[in-house]
Amino acid sequence: MKVLVIGSGGREHVICWKLSQSPKISKLFCAPGNGGISEVADCVPISAEDIQGIVQFSVSEGIDYVMVAPENPLALGLVDRLKENGIVAFGPSAKAAMIESSKAFSKDLMVRYHIPTAQYRLFDNETDALEYAHNINLPAVVKADGLALGKGVIIARDKEEMESAIRAMFSEKKFGKAGDRVLIEEFLEGPELTVLAFSDGDTVLPMVSSRDHKRAFDHDLGKNTGGMGAITPGADLSMEEENQILEMIIRPTIKALREEGAPFVGVIYFGLILTSSGPKVIEYNARFGDPEAQAILPRLENDLMEVFEACTDHCLNRVSLRFKKGGSCCVVMASGGYPDRYEKGFEIQGIKACNCLVFHAGTKKVNGKYYTNGGRVLAVYADADTVDEAIDQAYEGVRNIQFRGMHFRTDIGRTGSKS
Ligand code: AMP
Ligand code: GLY
Repeated sequence: MKVLVIGSGGREHVICWKLSQSPKISKLFCAPGNGGISEVADCVPISAEDIQGIVQFSVSEGIDYVMVAPENPLALGLVDRLKENGIVAFGPSAKAAMIESSKAFSKDLMVRYHIPTAQYRLFDNETDALEYAHNINLPAVVKADGLALGKGVIIARDKEEMESAIRAMFSEKKFGKAGDRVLIEEFLEGPELTVLAFSDGDTVLPMVSSRDHKRAFDHDLGKNTGGMGAITPGADLSMEEENQILEMIIRPTIKALREEGAPFVGVIYFGLILTSSGPKVIEYNARFGDPEAQAILPRLENDLMEVFEACTDHCLNRVSLRFKKGGSCCVVMASGGYPDRYEKGFEIQGIKACNCLVFHAGTKKVNGKYYTNGGRVLAVYADADTVDEAIDQAYEGVRNIQFRGMHFRTDIGRTGSKS
């Protein structure tokens, strides 16, 4: 099979790395890819958002299967366009991807189908939002309705922060069109947990749980980022807790989307908070998380291509997922200044000396050398019998790597990760 993966981050690197082990694939492409991905796939210089360019390339190259990893092309309907052109594509339709691309859509779905989530109100203008915000308990959470690279969420701890968050969204337009509608949401307390699951529209198979670390600095300080590192498992859940998440959240969500005429095929991401009154959803994503994918997929023992095909062939009920025992950790190494302004183009040293799997995000390869080319640069991965050992090994790996201005958290997996 000729397979094309869409995207250019660490998530796409781990997906390509895992797919490159599948005997089913004769040729693997990635658009646009990055320095590390070029080691395992042919990188094609087409942007992940160039829907027409991707469709044209797939048709002319005779691609059999396209895996769409990032949220933007999913929201833009890439999977729908590929299908119209007779190409099998992994990922939800634009309609099903609305669980991520519109928080208003996902909240409404959760309320109508009794899926536990934070209480909220939706606003389309600043005056009403400010008036409502005067009389609520703080902290509370202000969220842009649309896609904002994981950064459209502000936790307001006092009245000033609340007002400036509302103004940032409406009058200052800091999140562009994503902030045309704004949710104000109840603040939930408890540890965070991510559960990713494969779905064929009916059957849903959860992967091992994981935990992301969204803040830029140790002790969960600093701004929200795309994610600075992840561990698996994300929590020590009892069978009963696992069952509760499956029966109260995962299965009802897949059923709800099917009943809405938008069956979800692909990977669905449940961002949860384990509150004292049970698990609640704080967000859905319509794809693998980044860096959760880098922490999970190396532990998967199945042929990933077979799992993808079982989703798109609607026979996931025949698959059982197997994961390497123990735990894993990936530590993200970022450019100095990320998630704000940062410089790029610095040489990266020590990747080969590092005794770990290293997944590339913002890198490019020139004359056999790697250079920084983005905010999140690398994810250093290790697994072991326990998550604690995996954390130690991943940090051993990090010590080998150097580039100017690099920064990384030193407490991945060691902190409760509550924003
Ligand atoms: P999101 O992009 O919706 O995942 O939000 C980013 C981060 O904000 C989450 O990982 C949480 O740490 C935090 N967050 C979002 N919603 C809530 C909430 N209702 N209560 C507490 N924390 C939240
Ligand atoms: N790590 C969070 C995300 O991928 O949205």
